[in-house]
Amino acid sequence: MVKKNTCVFISGYGSNLKALIKSSRNQNFPINIRLVVSNKINAKGILYAKKNSIPYLIINTKKRNFESILLKEIKKYKISLICLAGYMKIISKKFLKDYGKKIINIHPSLLPKFKGLNTHRRALNNKEKYSGCTVHFVNSKLDSGKIILQKKVKISKNETETSLAKKILVQEHKLYPKAILKAFNV
Ligand code: GRF
Repeated sequence: MVKKNTCVFISGYGSNLKALIKSSRNQNFPINIRLVVSNKINAKGILYAKKNSIPYLIINTKKRNFESILLKEIKKYKISLICLAGYMKIISKKFLKDYGKKIINIHPSLLPKFKGLNTHRRALNNKEKYSGCTVHFVNSKLDSGKIILQKKVKISKNETETSLAKKILVQEHKLYPKAILKAFNV
């Protein structure tokens, strides 16, 4: 199988990156993680890149030309898929157009519900019975591209934002690899 050269964008812990690295070790899994990009210098997830000898790039999104630096790097590694995993920056329309290939994202809610930030707090405040996570293609609107796969979790009686986040994150780690298999018909 020819694996897709993939770049994972992170901002924080990188637990989804870790799950994707693990899946990508399987020879039947369709992606190979060639590059990790972080917009935060101290993102813990960079450790997973280091540990696994994956090149990484820290970008300063305050720099005006950061997107062109990023695109150059992405070209260098012949990246044909970008996976956003906890990446806290909006992908600009220009970047989407200039990159021109597939970008997918994981979001901790049952989209189209609770796009954007503080999803767990909003789900609880809204007295939802269920929440979950969604893997979707990225388009120019926030958390709005075509849904690939979702996983529902039940919200318990005494659920807190922290307990819900934890519960959903466990599912995210399973859902992201599954969604990649589905997206690429494996
Ligand atoms: C996940 O809940 C993801 O859905 C959201 O941010 C969190 C990132 O977690 N977008 P991690 O950095 O992968 O541990």
